[in-house]
Amino acid sequence: MVNVGIIGCGYWGPKHARNFHGLAGANLTAAWDLDEERPRQARTQYPYVATTCDFRDLLRDGVDAGGVATPVGTHYQLAREALLNGKHVLVEKPMTSSSREAMELIELAENRNLVLMVGHTYEYHPAVDYLRQLVKSGELGEIYAIDAARLNLGLFQPDINVLWDLAPHDICITLSLLDETPIAVSARGAGHIDHDICDVAHLELVFSNGTMAHIHASWLDPRKVRLITIVGSKKMAVYDDVSEAEKVRIYDKGLAIPADNDSFAPWPPHYRYGDVTIPFISNTEPLKLECSHFLHCITEGGRPRSDGWAGLRVVSILEAANKSLSNGGRREQMPATKASAEAGAATIR
Ligand SMILES: NC(=O)c1ccc[n+]([C@@H]2O[C@H](COP(=O)([O-])OP(=O)(O)OC[C@H]3O[C@@H](n4cnc5c(N)ncnc54)[C@H](O)[C@@H]3O)[C@@H](O)[C@H]2O)c1
Repeated sequence: MVNVGIIGCGYWGPKHARNFHGLAGANLTAAWDLDEERPRQARTQYPYVATTCDFRDLLRDGVDAGGVATPVGTHYQLAREALLNGKHVLVEKPMTSSSREAMELIELAENRNLVLMVGHTYEYHPAVDYLRQLVKSGELGEIYAIDAARLNLGLFQPDINVLWDLAPHDICITLSLLDETPIAVSARGAGHIDHDICDVAHLELVFSNGTMAHIHASWLDPRKVRLITIVGSKKMAVYDDVSEAEKVRIYDKGLAIPADNDSFAPWPPHYRYGDVTIPFISNTEPLKLECSHFLHCITEGGRPRSDGWAGLRVVSILEAANKSLSNGGRREQMPATKASAEAGAATIR
């Protein structure tokens, strides 16, 4: 049994609490928030949970692991304290506000043999698992492009721009599907409501094999959109996370230069229109799978799929994106960090 404490009881923290509460390998033992009222609400649902106004109570004996679901600016300090006190940590995305902080947490966890996992929830999404296998199997062919859109009206964040809020999910999905890290990044965007905080942005990830990836993130859209299109040389796939029952569609569509083409008339190519397949995707809650994986890594000593290195990769991309945003969309080269090397080594899925 792993005794888990929840740090941050706003929107997402209670979802950690519900999932840990429901998992056989965990005891939900404590909840903490700066706002004293919020853990009290948790107590109405889980009467045995110790609530506290002092973070140090949570770090005492009796708690083995902490789930950090607070604003990103606080992740580093809270996760660091928890690690220094010998607790395993599941810290929400994005892992930290800077790659330096992320690196420090990785070193702390590694030196203490503690599990440090990042809440890249989509890593654990059954639809993303399905797409990962689909890409890996070669059924889509060579991946030409990935296009992602994560749009809605709000929720505006006072301390981070829209890329830091929404793009971590699509960055994780893209890196996971391609099993690669980008060599360069560029971003354009603007702050329409608060000029200092970009609320609509377009992020481009450049990969060494020529695959193009584009992520559109917006807090200023009339509809909730969570859409990813993967364009392959053989087939194409669309992942619509808003759809209840038909999240993934595989289109047997494409185009090719005809084999019997005479060299004087290479154009137009042949367009191919084939079947559209809708596979069954399990509806297991991704956060449940994520929390369960965290417990498994603690009890079995494994390395999380979304470990600190994965968190660092995302933070480094967001840092480069911020740089590009302030440079009018200039392409920023990604530093060749140990994180990229680790990414290459972690091709276990
Ligand atoms: N993985 C996902 O799909 C997913 C989804 C939503 C949010 N998140 C992440 O979860 C985190 C929290 O987001 P949220 O939407 O719940 O925010 P929120 O504002 O609803 O809740 C944050 C809570 O943290 C508390 N808090 C602030 N500073 C604190 C501190 N120093 N110590 C203790 N408590 C503190 C606040 O009082 C509040 O109750 C963010 O990092 C966000 O990116 C992840």
